[in-house]
Amino acid sequence: MIMDGNGRWAKDRNFGRTRGHREGAKRVDEIVTACCRKGIKYLTLYAFSTENWNRPGFEVNMLMRLLVQHLKTMDKKLLKNNVALVAQGSLERLPKFVQLELNRVIRQTSTESPTLYLNLSLSYGGRQEIVDCARKIASEVAAGKYSIDQIDEELVRSRLYHPEIPDPDLLIRTGGEYRVSNFLLWEIAYTELYVTKTLWPDFGPAELDEALSTFSTRQRRFGKTSEQVAETEPAFETSGAAHGFL
Ligand code: FPP
Repeated sequence: MIMDGNGRWAKDRNFGRTRGHREGAKRVDEIVTACCRKGIKYLTLYAFSTENWNRPGFEVNMLMRLLVQHLKTMDKKLLKNNVALVAQGSLERLPKFVQLELNRVIRQTSTESPTLYLNLSLSYGGRQEIVDCARKIASEVAAGKYSIDQIDEELVRSRLYHPEIPDPDLLIRTGGEYRVSNFLLWEIAYTELYVTKTLWPDFGPAELDEALSTFSTRQRRFGKTSEQVAETEPAFETSGAAHGFL
């Protein structure tokens, strides 16, 4: 999910942007709980992009503090719902106090078979993920572990931040903008896109239901013809990921 529209939500009400982000953080909890109830196995949230570092210092600091405050109360809710927190991005760029709290909650919620993996994208950029992946593979080639001929899609995928998480079936963007903003560039090759004008602080379980019901009407062809797909699979077959809302 690309959680966009916190600023506009606040502006519409003559509030400061901080209030919009605080309201947005509350929606995160509601949506995580709703996803658990629906049996969704993986939820990746775009909480802070590499480009968000260019926002005014005040807003960046506020978002970092909000994230830590939220993590401090979120851990109990995650444990109650059997949610395992993971994170992805240039995490070393996050302030130390954020890294410490993030790592604490990741450790505390780590479990063999969670109901839901909650993947927080922080200081995340899709292009940077591909650059990091290229560096890993290049160093392995240099060390003689692989030849250039052995570089294929499977190897690239295995060197992304979370290869154990399947490609998303559905990407939801709130706030009405039709762009992907450097999110999961490799992983969304065959993902269904859903854009809603609803601003993130107004995006609740009913809006999630609406997105999922639209998704269930999509025919996923993965490059085949619609006739081929109709012969072999139900219209709403997933890419193989265990996304339980179907
Ligand atoms: C985009 O809205 C939102 C962000 C850059 C931050 C997202 C953060 C949260 C939802 C809260 C904290 C998250 C967690 C996980 C506790 P925008 O500010 O670009 O909105 P605008 O386009 O209306 O200005």
